Amino acid sequence: MHVINDHPILKFERGRKVQFYHDGKLMEWYENDPIAVALQANGVKILSYSKRFHRPRGFFCAIGKCSSCFMRVDGLPNVRTCITPLREGMRIETQHGIGEFLEDTPSDVIDQLGQPLIVETEVLVIGAGPAGLSTCLEAADLGCQVTLVDESLELGGQLIKQTHKFFGSSEDFAGIRGVKIAEILREKLIPYTVSGKLTIFSNTSAIGYYAKEDVVLCTQGEKRIILIKPKAVVVSSGAMEKLIPFSGNDLPGVYGAGAVQTLMNVYGVLPGKKVLMVGAGNIGLIVSYQLLQAGVKVAAIVELAPRVGGYWVHASKVQRLGVPILLQHTVKGAVGEKQVEGAWIQQVDEEGRFVGAEKFVDCDTICLAVGLTPTVDLLWQAGCEMVYVADLGGYVPKRDWTLRTSNPKFWIAGDASAIGEATTAMLEGRIAGLSVSKALGKVSESFFKNKCEEYWTRLNELRMAETCERLRKGLQFALSGNFPITVQSSEEKSQIFNEETYADAFDKRTVQSIIPPMDLWKKRKGGLVIIECPQRIPCDPCHVSCPTGAILPFQNINDLPSVDYSKCTGCAMCVAACPGLACFVADMTGEQAILKLPYEMSPIPKEGNVVACLDRSGRELARSKVRKVQEPRRDRTFVVHVQVPKELVMLVRALKVIEDE
Ligand code: SF4
Ligand code: SF4
Ligand code: FES
Repeated sequence: MHVINDHPILKFERGRKVQFYHDGKLMEWYENDPIAVALQANGVKILSYSKRFHRPRGFFCAIGKCSSCFMRVDGLPNVRTCITPLREGMRIETQHGIGEFLEDTPSDVIDQLGQPLIVETEVLVIGAGPAGLSTCLEAADLGCQVTLVDESLELGGQLIKQTHKFFGSSEDFAGIRGVKIAEILREKLIPYTVSGKLTIFSNTSAIGYYAKEDVVLCTQGEKRIILIKPKAVVVSSGAMEKLIPFSGNDLPGVYGAGAVQTLMNVYGVLPGKKVLMVGAGNIGLIVSYQLLQAGVKVAAIVELAPRVGGYWVHASKVQRLGVPILLQHTVKGAVGEKQVEGAWIQQVDEEGRFVGAEKFVDCDTICLAVGLTPTVDLLWQAGCEMVYVADLGGYVPKRDWTLRTSNPKFWIAGDASAIGEATTAMLEGRIAGLSVSKALGKVSESFFKNKCEEYWTRLNELRMAETCERLRKGLQFALSGNFPITVQSSEEKSQIFNEETYADAFDKRTVQSIIPPMDLWKKRKGGLVIIECPQRIPCDPCHVSCPTGAILPFQNINDLPSVDYSKCTGCAMCVAACPGLACFVADMTGEQAILKLPYEMSPIPKEGNVVACLDRSGRELARSKVRKVQEPRRDRTFVVHVQVPKELVMLVRALKVIEDE
C-alpha cells in the first residue's frame, strides 16, 4: 500500500474499510475516499486508455476539472473518479476510449437524470474554497439566503491541502496552517446551516447557465440534476492546473501539484517515491516541502525562469533540506511506457532555446506547478465581458470594484477572478458577499461603502509584495469603471534570484543586518534572534508572536523585520511562529553555541537523538545531540536545541535525525 503512516503535521482519520473490484480484482480501501485515491493507494495508476493511440492515462487535477480520470463505475461510463466516493462492492473498470452506455449501464441512473431537484435561492455561491466560504459567511451574516455548491467531497478548496502556515497579516489568519483555516471557516458556517440561511451541496458541479430560463444547471455525484434559480451568483470556482508540452506528458505519474497535495495531505496516500518538481513559484516550492514532510524524495525543482518566482523563504526551506533548484531548466520528456519511470531535463538560455546536454532524473512522478488558469466557463456562458490577461492566468471577466461583472447577476472572487494567494481570495470573497448583499438591499449604501473600502485597503496592502507585481499589472486590464481606491504599482524593482545572487542576498543581509550585535550576543543568556527574511512579502507573525516587542511593529505589512536586540530574550516564540521558518536563535554564552532551529519533519527528534546539522543547501556540516525539543505554540512546529561549534552558528540552518544511531 502506498500510504503515509507517519506525518509530522497531519493525522489521517480514515473511515470504514470497504471492498471493491478493479477490473475484476478484489481490493480494499476506505469508504467515501475518492475512487482514484483508492486505486493509487492500491498501486493502480492507469485509469483509462485514450481513444486513438490507446495511451495509458492517469489522473491529473484530482478536483474534477480535467476529465483525465474517467472510468466505468458500476456500468456508468465517464465517471470522474477523482471526486466520486468509494462505496462497498463498487465495480470499477478501466475505460477504453470514449465512454459509452453499454448493456450493463443501469437504467435507473438514466431515470434519475430526468428528475431534477429545483432550488430557489437569493445568492448562489459556486466553489467552496477560501473565496467561496468567505462569500457565504459575509452574505449569510448580512441576511442573505445562500446556496453553496462545490465539486469536491470536502469543503475548503485548496485550504484543506495546505500544511504550511499562512503569510499575510494576523487579522487574516497569518501564522495558521491552511488545513486549520479550512476548519475555522467551516465551523463558522455551522450556525448558518443550522438556521437554514445556508444550504450546501457538495460533490456538485455547476455545469451550465441558461439565460432564457435564468437557471444554473448542476449535477450532484454524476447522478442527480439540480436546477438552481438564484437572484445573484458569485463564481468562486477557483482555477485549473496548466499543462506544458513535453513528450510523455500524458503518462500516468505526471500530476498537477494540486493533485499531489490532495493525495498526500487530504487522503494520506503517496504520489510516488521520488518526484521531479517543475516550477519554482510558491506552489512548486510549497508542494516540494510537503512532499518532504510526507517522506517522498524530491530529486530536483526545475524552473524555466532565471529566478525563483515564489517566496525566498519557501525556497530556503527546501534547499536546506537538500533539494536543488535548477534555474533556467525545464523538463524535456517523461520516460516510461505505462507510467513515469524517469525524466529528461535540459538547460535553456535567455531566449528559451535548449542548451547543453540533456540530464536524466531518476523519478517515478513528475509534478507540474507551472501556473493556473482561472475556471470561468460559466462566466462565458453568462455572456460576461471577458478579457485575456496573461498576468492574471488567462481569460478573466471584467469587473468593477464591487467585483460585479458586466452581467449584473454575476460576481467573482478568488482564483476565478485572478490567480493569487488564499489570503487575498478570502478578502475578495468578503467583498463579493458584501456586494451581493448590497445589491439585494440587505445593507445601506454607507455601510457598504465603508466596509468595502476597509476590505480593499487590506487587500491592496497584501498585494503590495514584490511577488505580486504581475498581478497588480494585470488587474489594471480587468478592472472597469470608477475605482475609488488606488491600486498602486510597486516602485521597487524585484531582486534577481539565482544560485549566485541567492547566496549573495543572504550574505549581504547576514553581514549588514541579521547578525546580532556581538558584544550583547556574547553575554545574553538564552541567545538572540537571527532573522533571514531578505524579501518584501506580506507577513507579520514574527512581530505579533514576540512577547517582548523585540521585533518592531511593521509600518507596512511588506516591511522586512527589524529587531531591537536589547529586548530579545531568545525565547524562540518567533522561531515557532514564522511561516517561512526564517527565524533562528543562537546562544553564544557557553563554550559552544546553542542553536534553536525550527523543525517540521518526521521523525520528531527526542532529547539525546543524534542529528546531522545541515547548511543552507542541505550539506552536512556536523553531527550533534539534541539538547531539548519544544513545541511552543502546540501547532507541530518544533524548536529543536542543538549544540554546535560557534563558527557554525551562521551556517547551520536545518537538522536531520540520524535514525540508525
Ligand atoms: S527570540 Fe523571543 S524575544 Fe527574541 S525576537 Fe524572537 S520572540 Fe522576540
Ligand atoms: S521573518 Fe517575519 S516577515 Fe519574514 S517570513 Fe518570518 S514571520 Fe514573515
Ligand atoms: S477530473 Fe479527475 S483528475 Fe481531473
